[in-house]
Amino acid sequence: MSKRILVTGASGQIGSALTPALRARYGADMVVATDIVEPPEELRNAGPFEFLDVTQRGAIAAVIDRYNVGTIYHLAAILSAVGETKPQLAWTVNLNGVYKVLEIARERRVERVFYPSSIAVFGPETPRDNTPQDTVLRPTTMYGVTKVAGELLGNYYFRRFGLDVRGVRYPGIISSETLPGGGTTDYAVEIFYEAIKHHHYTCFLREDTVLPMMYMPDCIKATMDLMEADLARLKHHTDYNLAAMSFSPADLVAEIQKHIPDFVCEYRPDYRQEIADSWPRTIDDRAAREEWGWEPQYDLAAMVEDMLDKLGRRYEAGLL
Ligand code: NAD
Ligand code: SER
Repeated sequence: MSKRILVTGASGQIGSALTPALRARYGADMVVATDIVEPPEELRNAGPFEFLDVTQRGAIAAVIDRYNVGTIYHLAAILSAVGETKPQLAWTVNLNGVYKVLEIARERRVERVFYPSSIAVFGPETPRDNTPQDTVLRPTTMYGVTKVAGELLGNYYFRRFGLDVRGVRYPGIISSETLPGGGTTDYAVEIFYEAIKHHHYTCFLREDTVLPMMYMPDCIKATMDLMEADLARLKHHTDYNLAAMSFSPADLVAEIQKHIPDFVCEYRPDYRQEIADSWPRTIDDRAAREEWGWEPQYDLAAMVEDMLDKLGRRYEAGLL
């Protein structure tokens, strides 16, 4: 019997989009979704779901054995903003989680592991424009610290044990279905809901804060393309820079106003401003382009049009 795919953190922003995409590609029964919280109903009904805490070694091993797992997408994590309010929790979930998943994957001879990193691996000493692939990694957030350690650990397991661990440094991800789980880039999703419902949004970042961003279909495409890439072509493994678009809140507001002219945004920066100010503005992702053919499909205008179309329909149907 062929081996199954395990997704941790499947109820989250990325997992709830990646799991259906994996099920469409490999078969609904082949993809086991897991999380500590209930997933969206469609995800729970469309294939196997298990409650799984990634800090519990025995529980991870049991699911891997029960379902004969050959590939893991390890998405469970605490993101940057929640991580700054609860740094101990971020350390426990992010670092204990990835260590336990990699250890069990090594023991059980799992074939491939995807472990996403983030633009949060960079810090104030990193060049902020066209941030190079290989550069200074001195983050000032607990989330960033755990992501740097996770990248290094994944590379260690590849070199030392031959475990095929792959990962990208996602930018801020924008999605139309599940809301983001507590990051610094969440404004770029919340703003659409408020623009449609109230024509008004109060942004927690300054209007000129440029950050790298990506629309969910590109996020899913990058993830699946990297996991299907020929290992022989990969010079990097767990730490690919990845870019699609960069914009500030003011740029996003101007684009939304092309569709909703009376939309107004106010700016009240909070503690997340300091996190954003420590991250890159634009990213050099040539390694991903050259080594596995990465190419994004959505720019700012295309993303905004699609978000407003999808959320606008849900609003009109009374579902927002
Ligand atoms: P999210 O917060 O939306 O989802 C994370 C999920 O992990 C949640 O459903 C949560 O319930 C689950 N979780 C938390 N603690 C857990 C535990 N102990 N055991 C099992 N599950 C647990 O996050 P996301 O945006 O879907 O992020 C997925 C991955 O991508 C993370 O590794 C994140 O660091 C990375 N990433 C995301 C972004 C982004 O903008 N969304 C950007 C860069 C990197
Ligand atoms: N979008 C994520 C965050 O803001 C970046 O990893 O935490």
